[in-house]
Amino acid sequence: MLNRTDLIIKSQDRTDGQSISEYIAAGGYGAAEKAFSMPREAVVNEVKAAHIRGRGGAGFDCGIKWGFMPQPGARPHYLVVNADEGEPGTFKDRKIMEQNPHLLIEGCIIGCYAIGAHACYIYVRHELHLAKERLWTAIEQAKDKGYLGKHPFGKSYPVDIWVHTGAGAYICGEETALLNSLEGKRGEPRLKPPFPAQAGAFDCPTSVNNVETVAAVTLALRSGGDAFSRMSLLHEFNDGGVRLFGVSGHVKRPGIYEAAVGLTLRELIYDLGGGILDDRPMIGVIPGGSSCPILLPSEIVDVPGDRRFEPFNGKSVLDLPMGVDTFRSIGTMLGTCCAIVLSDAADPVLACRNLMQFYKHESCGQCTPCREGCGWLDRLLEKIVAGTATMNELNLASEVASNIAGNTICAFGDGAAGPMLAFVQKFRASFEDYIQSGGSKQTRRLAL
Ligand SMILES: Cc1cc2nc3c(=O)[nH]c(=O)nc-3n(C[C@H](O)[C@H](O)[C@H](O)COP(=O)(O)O)c2cc1C
Repeated sequence: MLNRTDLIIKSQDRTDGQSISEYIAAGGYGAAEKAFSMPREAVVNEVKAAHIRGRGGAGFDCGIKWGFMPQPGARPHYLVVNADEGEPGTFKDRKIMEQNPHLLIEGCIIGCYAIGAHACYIYVRHELHLAKERLWTAIEQAKDKGYLGKHPFGKSYPVDIWVHTGAGAYICGEETALLNSLEGKRGEPRLKPPFPAQAGAFDCPTSVNNVETVAAVTLALRSGGDAFSRMSLLHEFNDGGVRLFGVSGHVKRPGIYEAAVGLTLRELIYDLGGGILDDRPMIGVIPGGSSCPILLPSEIVDVPGDRRFEPFNGKSVLDLPMGVDTFRSIGTMLGTCCAIVLSDAADPVLACRNLMQFYKHESCGQCTPCREGCGWLDRLLEKIVAGTATMNELNLASEVASNIAGNTICAFGDGAAGPMLAFVQKFRASFEDYIQSGGSKQTRRLAL
């Protein structure tokens, strides 16, 4: 059932995104004012009731994360908004920052109050110039209205927000690499523990949240946490509210669409995305950014022993509601909820090679399994495509990927290994075809 909404961004593209008066007229900043009239803990409880699963990829519950923050004390607390948005296939946060920046700024004000912070940094990918410009304008407008600064909403609880420009490295989207980068250090992930809630920005308690997560907090406070959660079709999975769904690749209408959590891939690809380009068959879909293992349209849901899956067992994975736990249960991830669709016009071996080139390029090099393993995968794929690899080397590629997974400081390694393993497992015949062609397949392709 298509359940589209217009709460995060208007489906009818707004071009300016700048009008604070328009935003206020539609109830904007009412949620922040309400939050400021509540005890801090009550705001966190409201966010907990909303079941906002982190929209940055890992799907951790925002209210629970905020509940980990210590009581405000001698050390300052920080809210850091992750606007690095570097995951291939993902372009949803940019939409919010460009088209509805006040929704994010309002969420930042609420977030600061809820976690006992007086300062918020929005770490924005360098290339997103319009987003940065609109955020700065929105911050100035909110200051002029008295919603930010020394006495937001007349209350003696100072809040300030800064936009910080990143330098375009994918790894700086990983929350602790981001914190290092914010501090002017090399953007490498930190060993955990300590987690950011104990020692984050400048060694102080910090919550790092994705842009869309923080924007959703505004909606949750506006409607009430429980009401927000119940907008989702996966309320029973504690995966609440509405969210942005992206679709790109071989579809007729690529873009960002807003709907209740629990939309299916079929609805996203065929109803919202307009179906497959040139009406060709679909060979696979990467559900939520490049780090998620690919799904085949022929795969069937089979999750025994969980009552909540009963309506979906035996159905195509395309008909399973898209949620953090539902997709984890079928061996992939929801990630950023931005799907990449491959029709039979795509060559899965080349698609896999493209991804591995990306991971090799972006590995920060700190952990040996990732630094060496991603390079190894890239070189093996180069040989496979050239037709000079052996079948043993195809097996070696899976072995190398398995040795990266789980053996690195951050989840980058898993993000590279999971897709590699899934591509080889699900498109093995295509990889073998390249090897057996002894180079003629590549020659034919290059001649096209
Ligand atoms: C390699 C890598 C890149 C990431 N890039 C981003 C990103 O661009 N934006 C983002 O919000 N989260 C990204 N994450 C996830 C963050 O580490 C973190 O989980 C997230 O910012 C937490 O916010 P959330 O709980 O609201 O999702 C990345 C993680 C990894 C391992």
